[in-house]
Amino acid sequence: MENPFGAGLTMQLTGSGPAPMLRRSNRGQSMNQRVAVVTGGVGGLGASICRALADAGRTVVATDLAHRGDAIEAFLDDRNGRDMHFEPMDVSRFEDCADTLSRIAESRGPIDILVNAAGITRDASLRKMSVEQWRSVLSVDLESVFNTCRQVIEPMMQRGFGRIVNISSVNAQTGQFGQTNYAAAKAGMHGFTMSLAREAARKGVTVNSVSPGYVDTEMTRAIRHDIRAQIIESIPVGRIGMPDDIARVVRFLCEDDADYITGANVPVNGGMFMSF
Ligand SMILES: NC(=O)c1ccc[n+]([C@@H]2O[C@H](COP(=O)([O-])OP(=O)(O)OC[C@H]3O[C@@H](n4cnc5c(N)ncnc54)[C@H](O)[C@@H]3O)[C@@H](O)[C@H]2O)c1
Repeated sequence: MENPFGAGLTMQLTGSGPAPMLRRSNRGQSMNQRVAVVTGGVGGLGASICRALADAGRTVVATDLAHRGDAIEAFLDDRNGRDMHFEPMDVSRFEDCADTLSRIAESRGPIDILVNAAGITRDASLRKMSVEQWRSVLSVDLESVFNTCRQVIEPMMQRGFGRIVNISSVNAQTGQFGQTNYAAAKAGMHGFTMSLAREAARKGVTVNSVSPGYVDTEMTRAIRHDIRAQIIESIPVGRIGMPDDIARVVRFLCEDDADYITGANVPVNGGMFMSF
């Protein structure tokens, strides 16, 4: 099968390197803006990242589980004229990622930016953790990054431009009680990031991780109230993070001229974990 990601016509308008491009997709549409895909795109962080990328002039496709009906509707209602779209995609299924990402590339143009923000927690101390809790977190939080990056990396390298951002977590850096599965997956994600960054560095493709601290989304609203209060108390800046705190950093890493930052892990945690 012909590779659909590489099929769009790409023509540079000005300068050299990763300048804005005029593209013609397989359907003949002209596009002069980069195409971004955000997994977990209707979630708390994902939706905020989509808005930030769209505000920076990107065509944005949020992908998420098809059954997230209300969240998908809220996401689409909140577009306010932004160039944002939705496609169902389960990041834990390789074939689904291959089909969906190829369809997006055909209809909107080659994928320039990929943000892996889909994620779940299934907390339990290891003594009580089930095989299902272990496997589901490893699958959605780590294997997903293989499933999506594997589809886009070759065409990005061929075109000489790409931005990949993987959303990891402060708990990957510190470990967390009840999160052997989550911390292993998110730490693995950064090992993946560094390795892929080395493989793609000469081809204009950067690969970075962003490690949020505690951010006010559904994921952290599920934490027991007293524990959540204790966590917030321990954050040096004195407040929980907001999705936009993370989205601004992702948007920056996805800029054309952020081309000298690769293989990095950017902590955005209000000072919760400082390291050198
Ligand atoms: N909220 C935080 O404090 C925090 C901190 C550190 C890291 N993170 C990470 O940030 C990312 C976003 O988290 P969030 O806080 O927005 O949570 P969220 O629950 O609001 O969003 C996660 C999204 O992932 C989607 N998702 C789950 N399984 C999926 C699958 N198999 N295929 C496709 N999509 C799937 C969900 O439907 C949801 O929309 C996650 O990777 C999370 O681990 C969050």
